[in-house]
Amino acid sequence: MHKIPDILIIDDEPLMRISISDALKVEGYNVMSAETGGEGLKSIKNNSYDVVITDLRLPEVDGVQILKSCKQISPRTKVLMITAYGSVDTAVEAMKIGAYDYITKPFSMDEFILTVKRLIALRDLEDENIYLKEKIEERYEFSGIIGKSDKMKDIFEKIEIIAPTDTTVLITGESGTGKELVANAIHYNSPRKNEAFIKVSCAALPETLLEAELFGHERGAFTGALKQKKGRFELAHKGTLFLDEIGEINQTVQVKLLRVLQGREFERLGGTSTINVDVRIIGATQRDLKKEVQKGSFREDLYYRLNVVPVHLPALRDRKEDILLLTEHFLNMYSKHMNKPMRGISIEAREFILKYDYPGNIRELENAVKRALTLSRDKEIQPWDLPEDMCTICREGSKVGERLSYSEPLPTAMSLFEKQYVSKVLEETKGNKTLASKLLGISRKTLWEKCKLYGLLKKEEIVEDNTAE
Ligand SMILES: Nc1ncnc2c1ncn2[C@@H]1O[C@H](COP(=O)(O)OP(=O)(O)OP(=O)(O)O)[C@@H](O)[C@H]1O
Ligand SMILES: [Mg+2]
Repeated sequence: MHKIPDILIIDDEPLMRISISDALKVEGYNVMSAETGGEGLKSIKNNSYDVVITDLRLPEVDGVQILKSCKQISPRTKVLMITAYGSVDTAVEAMKIGAYDYITKPFSMDEFILTVKRLIALRDLEDENIYLKEKIEERYEFSGIIGKSDKMKDIFEKIEIIAPTDTTVLITGESGTGKELVANAIHYNSPRKNEAFIKVSCAALPETLLEAELFGHERGAFTGALKQKKGRFELAHKGTLFLDEIGEINQTVQVKLLRVLQGREFERLGGTSTINVDVRIIGATQRDLKKEVQKGSFREDLYYRLNVVPVHLPALRDRKEDILLLTEHFLNMYSKHMNKPMRGISIEAREFILKYDYPGNIRELENAVKRALTLSRDKEIQPWDLPEDMCTICREGSKVGERLSYSEPLPTAMSLFEKQYVSKVLEETKGNKTLASKLLGISRKTLWEKCKLYGLLKKEEIVEDNTAE
């Protein structure tokens, strides 16, 4: 999917330069090297690197100067600093200017390769984000509704067709799938857009109040009706009335509603004169109204009057292609609201976000992103910022420890814990060692060694050459 990354190494120590260059070449990267800062800068000007790895202390042009110039010449190139023990303060300063990370000498090659791999993955992710943003601007959005799945595209198309008409619409779908958002989109894309858009939540009001709320009442119609009051139907005249949770209304209101739907006329409670209104009606419900009809709790005639054009919103788990697009959307939106700039979502966190099945649909995803953003101390969202339901490993991790007997010596207990933890993570990642090693924060080789030590390798893996990857 992605091109082979180009990496530049700037280091005046030949041994260091050659050993890291060789290690990166083994990983399959295109590697160039420069001995001095001046030579390095020249190379940055003439080439387009994904990653520049530079020693902080160099004669003439030093690492910080390289970083500054690189930010200007090639802002999307990621810079990794190599520092000697004792110059960490300068490295931290460099990170403030925009270095991605620093690594302190002496370091293990495993640690170094893992850092570079994360950096490359971040580059890919950024490219993908830019692509996603462009797509949102293109057509993955309709009146604030985000989606790129075929199912959502069909819905955009349907809204475009029905919005200009006066037809009654029934929107169905599980909680949090965007029913209200779609109702809004229909109204604001209709010729009624400059008139009222009135919403009634049918479940929120007691039955008697709902009737008065919808149709209004005359003075003295019931105890407490001190003044005449217009109902929502009248208030919505020439506009749109959105009857949310319409599956909850009782038989009396159903009869009255049927009459309005048939002739757009009704009387206020306690009134005798008939009132005519010009109102477009949109209903929404989480219930399967057809089943309610079969059960006898919803009038069949009313159902057909309402269900002139059905719009069914699929559950988020049935349109997984939309998950990351929506996540990015909410992340951009809330990081602006909270004034907390974020680089994005870590690869590990994305795995969990994609794997989860969202019983609360988009609202649940939205809340998860909001929460993760609030909790996040990193530059990107990490698995541990996600709610427990979503991040099973974070939860299982503590359970693993709970199974220990607390009677072993500490080193044994630690090994036992490590074994259980590693095998749980491998189970969760379905044996994907690359992902598991990332989640565990160790190199793939170290993971392989631990698996071997704890007898977690499958037969075929024991003969496999672990240096292959
Ligand atoms: N496709 C979407 N794109 C962007 N935001 C969405 C999308 N769908 C839903 N949302 C957001 O998710 C939240 C829930 O949406 P909404 O209130 O429309 O759902 P609902 O189906 O009416 O839920 P309920 O049945 O619980 O009332 C809102 O904040 C909404 O903005
Ligand atoms: Mg709703």
